[in-house]
Amino acid sequence: MLKGKHIILGVTGSIAAYKSAVLCRLLVSAGAEVKVVMTELAKQFITPLTMATLSKNPILVEFFNPENGEWNSHVKLGEWADLYLIAPATANTMAKMATGVADNLLLTTYLSARCPVAVAPAMDLDMYAHVATQRNMERLKQDGVHIIEPGSGFLASGLVGKGRMAEPQDILDAVVALFDEKKKSLEGKHFLVTAGATIEPIDPVRFISNHSSGKMGYAVAESLAERGAKVTLVSGRTSLATPKGVDMVDVLSAEQMYEACNAVFEQTDGAVMCAAVADYTPQTVADEKLKKGDGDMSIALKRTKDIAASLGEKKGSRVLVGFAMETQNERENAQSKLERKNFDFIVLNSLRTEGAGFRGDTNVVTLIDKCGAEELPLMSKREVAERIVDKIETIL
Ligand code: CTP
Repeated sequence: MLKGKHIILGVTGSIAAYKSAVLCRLLVSAGAEVKVVMTELAKQFITPLTMATLSKNPILVEFFNPENGEWNSHVKLGEWADLYLIAPATANTMAKMATGVADNLLLTTYLSARCPVAVAPAMDLDMYAHVATQRNMERLKQDGVHIIEPGSGFLASGLVGKGRMAEPQDILDAVVALFDEKKKSLEGKHFLVTAGATIEPIDPVRFISNHSSGKMGYAVAESLAERGAKVTLVSGRTSLATPKGVDMVDVLSAEQMYEACNAVFEQTDGAVMCAAVADYTPQTVADEKLKKGDGDMSIALKRTKDIAASLGEKKGSRVLVGFAMETQNERENAQSKLERKNFDFIVLNSLRTEGAGFRGDTNVVTLIDKCGAEELPLMSKREVAERIVDKIETIL
């Protein structure tokens, strides 16, 4: 159910922390990789040894290991996670989250987390009902935090009422539902994605092309399809397998890609232009293989059509995303393409950055729109794709 999902389980100082052990076990059994962050007080309720054994990972409590000074990076942790689940979440922790207080690792991780966040509150009924707690929870909801409602029943105080943390199985169900919800968030939408390198024939044997592997475009197509969108992937030559649930249109030349994209664009909700399209193509294609002579030779080239710009002209309310691969004046060049081609945002790759570029599985990109630029750290192309699709969803 949760195979391959990275979950941070945050445990705060509540008697309900004893249930976190069962929850941790359920998450791991469902296939998730779990890292546990605890507050100092949480350690009084449940031992780090229990949580480390169940999660199969060391417990994180402090910003650094006092014995060897090793830093526990909340930023890296926040980037690693697909979900940050805080269970139990005390009134105190929720109040701090609502106001952006960052005085322990659990809270700095919250502020660094780019993934969905869910909290399972646990406290006495009066604390839960208090207007301050309700106000903080309302604030958290507005900030996009998912609240897994507490149940009613016997509380540790001896009182009976609402405030006991949801049962571990119910929290697991809520987590699974959350991932499903994310998956289906683009149901009913249709996207066009271009990917790979175009091939411009010189004669029946030779062609002009480039180093694009298509990996970035295929990752975007896969991510869109996983979230329920219908995807038409117009692809130049690659050696990649067709992603699951994607309608594939194979093309070779820039002209063929232009025709295929323009045939489908108006039926879509948007397009992501990842292909490395040749800007020039031979003026004529020889019918027979060109034979070599003694001297040098040159090939006359003509401009191809700019596919992205042509879609930009008839974009309407559709979302249009472009890529820019630059080696100098990166930001200025990307900015100018953003405006020229009428993109909503552009994904800038710098070939000068290590881990970025054509053939690898990782990328380092900056997302640029009219309001500014967001630099993303080194991440897998699949993660970059998720971030691109997240941004598309925000625009939609
Ligand atoms: N693009 C396109 N059709 C073309 C050329 C480019 O759809 N004929 C798209 C690419 O898929 C990318 C964006 O436009 O999303 C930017 O492409 P790029 O080649 O970097 O920009 P150019 O406009 O060709 O500028 P230059 O070659 O001068 O960098």
